[in-house]
Amino acid sequence: MSDLLDLVRGCTFDDFLFTPQYSVVQRRDPALLDLTSRLSRHLSLKRPLVSANMDTVTRSEMAIAVAEEGGIGIIDRGFRSGEIEPQVREVQIVKRKQHGIIGDPYTIGPDATLAAAAARMRQTGVGTLVVVDDTRRVLGLLTTRDLRFTGTGGAVRSRMTPRERLVTHSGAVEPAGAEELMRTHKVKKLPLINPDGTLRGLITSKDLMVQRQMPFATRDGQGRLRVGAAIGATGDYLERAAELLRAEADVIVIDVAHGHSVVMARAIDAFRKQFGDAELIAGNVATADGVRFLLDRGVDGVKVGIGPGGGCTTRLNTNYGVPQVQALVECRAAAAGRVPLIADGGVRRHGAFVQALTFGGDTVMLGGMLAGTTETPGDTVQKPVVLPESNKTVHVPFKVFRGMASLEAIVDRLDVEDAEAADVEALGAEGMEVSVPARGSVRPLLRDLIKHLCSAISYSGAGSLAEMQEMFRKNPERYVVKLSDSGRRESFDR
Ligand code: XMP
Repeated sequence: MSDLLDLVRGCTFDDFLFTPQYSVVQRRDPALLDLTSRLSRHLSLKRPLVSANMDTVTRSEMAIAVAEEGGIGIIDRGFRSGEIEPQVREVQIVKRKQHGIIGDPYTIGPDATLAAAAARMRQTGVGTLVVVDDTRRVLGLLTTRDLRFTGTGGAVRSRMTPRERLVTHSGAVEPAGAEELMRTHKVKKLPLINPDGTLRGLITSKDLMVQRQMPFATRDGQGRLRVGAAIGATGDYLERAAELLRAEADVIVIDVAHGHSVVMARAIDAFRKQFGDAELIAGNVATADGVRFLLDRGVDGVKVGIGPGGGCTTRLNTNYGVPQVQALVECRAAAAGRVPLIADGGVRRHGAFVQALTFGGDTVMLGGMLAGTTETPGDTVQKPVVLPESNKTVHVPFKVFRGMASLEAIVDRLDVEDAEAADVEALGAEGMEVSVPARGSVRPLLRDLIKHLCSAISYSGAGSLAEMQEMFRKNPERYVVKLSDSGRRESFDR
């Protein structure tokens, strides 16, 4: 490893190519190659994709898309300090998007009117209500079909399918078992009932179908999409973590610019004291000491990258940072497999994504690469652009992408309308805001990235992502080609 570290010192993605090896892959098919990777001590992904906790990248729409594509999104904390509810809401939207088993299905009493039932269906957007008595014992099911061609005056009990005519299941069931039951009995809804007759949950064939259509999606034990959420290390961070965990965020990320710090030590200790072993990733660090420091405090994952990000000016403004490939090699050696690493920042082309996974990342966090896609938050604005060939002005749609430490993002986070200009200037920005062309959905982009990863696995001589990483780490000299200036031009200038 020290040879590799010597080789990559001072270097980053554009300094290297990998030598192609004898390929054993018959088809570079993402559905066939195993791309499973570890996000943190207890969480795995089927695709090594993480969308960055930036306020111009990841809110619920992006987190849903990335999780459905097999990765995970981390909801940013770029809401005004003290405003916890908007971030919690984003987490809830993701958690409610898909179900395997609906743990808290909408219910109605047997004596409610059919009009009230219709109104409840409209409000909640669901077409099935479980009819329960005051003690939550299941009495029947009412669906939109039961309301067809009826007046609205009668009571729910007059139109519901009563319990004795329902197919139900007592106790826990896996989605596969539920599907079998529903197929055998030709039903589309399966209420789950506790031994005392009270409601335990509901499974619908529609939900199961969605699950089947997206076999690589990142889901929790109840079939809901997984999502992470970022907090800081000071201010409202513990209260924020409490609310996010209550909303069942799957992982909390303590994200600060310099994670190897006294502030981080205090934050992790306080987090562990209050939330026990809730899944926790912390960062960012870029050195072996930084990784060991976080591991010694019991985190479940580490985010690596100081200053490689597209929206970052940390290195320009402070001269501190570590080129990302060096950081990844150094941090991987220090982590020694104890917890997974997220390679965070600097991935601007698909080949760099492959490098991030090869040199040290278990997963890769993407910010700028996803910027401008439909799923990113923020408005699209039309900006005039002069075409050089014709000197004509056309209007092109743009979206904003900005570093979370940019002055603009800080100003939005603080309620600074009344603040003195000097206070705002004193904040010391380490990021910038840029306009990026607005483009279509992020999904084809993520699929392309994954296809290119599969091709890279084929070139590497491996049969899976884990094998590619293992083969490289056992024998890096076999792979690494350090580029000359002309080699770099030949490789990447297009
Ligand atoms: P990419 O290159 O994918 O990087 O856009 C995303 C990562 O950049 C980091 N980030 C920042 N770093 N100042 C910084 O020094 C900032 O203002 C800033 N905003 C984001 C962050 O780690 C993100 O995941």
